[in-house]
Amino acid sequence: MKKRIAIFASGSGSNAQKLMEHFKRSNEIEISLVLTNNADAYVLQRADNFEIPTHIFDKNEFYKTDEIIDLLKNLEIDFVVLAGFLWLIPKNLIHAYPGRIVNIHPAILPKFGGKGMYGDHVHNAVMAAGETEGGITIHYVNENYDEGEYIYQARYRIDKNDNLEMVKFKGQQLEHQHYPRIVETIVKKIKK
Ligand code: GAR
Repeated sequence: MKKRIAIFASGSGSNAQKLMEHFKRSNEIEISLVLTNNADAYVLQRADNFEIPTHIFDKNEFYKTDEIIDLLKNLEIDFVVLAGFLWLIPKNLIHAYPGRIVNIHPAILPKFGGKGMYGDHVHNAVMAAGETEGGITIHYVNENYDEGEYIYQARYRIDKNDNLEMVKFKGQQLEHQHYPRIVETIVKKIKK
């Protein structure tokens, strides 16, 4: 049986898209479910296009019940990938999937991480700090924002004339290039 991944995403889902494309023809791994806290998230449309089931949840369900864990276990999910998911992962979920939840962050952690540091906020902070390099971090998820063990980092150059769109684009290119590949390497190593 294939190993089964669930993706959590809150927004556009371009990384989710790359993951769905990457594993579409895999004999070993599949994206089995996409979950979101945002009923308007474009990631839902992307999942539909791949005929992947989706689940929308609210704060109460996520933080006050075990319903999400029950859903993941019922669907025999082996691994969880966060792709632009903006809520902190609760303890019960971390304990249900120890060492089996990863996140991608659009900066070279530990700089430009933590609560409130997501999406454009990160890129704006990187530019305001006058950094000449940006990057991405793929890391395991623990109970604090952006603090789990690092798995992979990659960097890009920020040129003097780069604007927000340019910096964002460079970061996104790196994310799309590396996230599916790194997820595949990790998931191949875990036991079903
Ligand atoms: C990505 O750049 C991801 O690194 C970032 O949100 C974006 C989602 O884009 N995540 C965070 O900032 C988490 N702190 P996408 O919806 O197009 O994949």
